[in-house]
Amino acid sequence: MLDFFEMKGVPFTREISSKHLYASACQKEAAARLEYAVKNRQFCLLTGEAGMGKSTAIRTLVHQLDPIHFHYLYICDSSLTPKLFYREVLQNFGIQPAFRSTDVKRQYQSLLLDIYENEKKMLVIIIDEAHHFSDSMLQELRFILNFKEDSMSPLSLIVVGQPSLRNLLKVKQLEAIDQRIQMRYQMSGLTEEETHAYIRHQLKMVETPHEIFSEEAIQAIYNFSQGIPRKINTLCSQSLLDAFIQGNKIVGESHIHRVINEL
Ligand SMILES: Nc1ncnc2c1ncn2[C@@H]1O[C@H](COP(=O)(O)OP(=O)(O)OP(=O)(O)O)[C@@H](O)[C@H]1O
Ligand SMILES: [Mg+2]
Repeated sequence: MLDFFEMKGVPFTREISSKHLYASACQKEAAARLEYAVKNRQFCLLTGEAGMGKSTAIRTLVHQLDPIHFHYLYICDSSLTPKLFYREVLQNFGIQPAFRSTDVKRQYQSLLLDIYENEKKMLVIIIDEAHHFSDSMLQELRFILNFKEDSMSPLSLIVVGQPSLRNLLKVKQLEAIDQRIQMRYQMSGLTEEETHAYIRHQLKMVETPHEIFSEEAIQAIYNFSQGIPRKINTLCSQSLLDAFIQGNKIVGESHIHRVINEL
């Protein structure tokens, strides 16, 4: 199929390298806000629908962080518990977690203060898939961020999840956490123009010498995907395959409609 479309690689995959990512307005804004949040040791909430590019934005961020000045830890576990969280942080720094949870919290506190005061590196902790968190894990965020009687912050905490996370944090019991969020950003889908540019960009990355998707096809992709990159990828990959099987060098609207009907 690659030869058929004269491609030098497979486009629309999740393995895209971070230097080949498409810089949409939303990705750029997310990157700028995340960078600011990290440099100012803020508590940041990044939300967006599934497939919108949240984890990609995080990937871009950590790629940019200079390892001399930053240490980051990425935790992606939809059933994260406070206990698992503290263990993960301690083990990341080669510390054996204590048996009792109160001791583990103390270890966490002194580790972070030590990094802050002695190591001169900024610590960034990112927790992804947070929309699945239990109430107790969400409540714990307050303690994860509480140092020296809540008077300072030795870390930047970035919590990532689907938009429902914002509503979860709006309940009365979690108001104290919601108030502490210093930076919020909700990602949105690509615009119609960006969807065009995104598809062109993906094909350029694999060095295709000519256009493959017709205008009508791109329009149909946008209408169906609402500019969500993962949905665009799925539609494009499957319609390329469909066109290849039928021996068409151009992906027209009919291929897109057939794929949509199968999804
Ligand atoms: N700027 C971009 N350039 C190229 N590809 C992108 C870009 N943003 C997202 N993608 C593609 O879309 C896919 C989905 O993005 P990502 O995994 O970041 O979404 P997500 O918001 O974290 O979704 P989920 O809520 O399901 O975890 C990625 O695998 C990647 O291939
Ligand atoms: Mg993700």
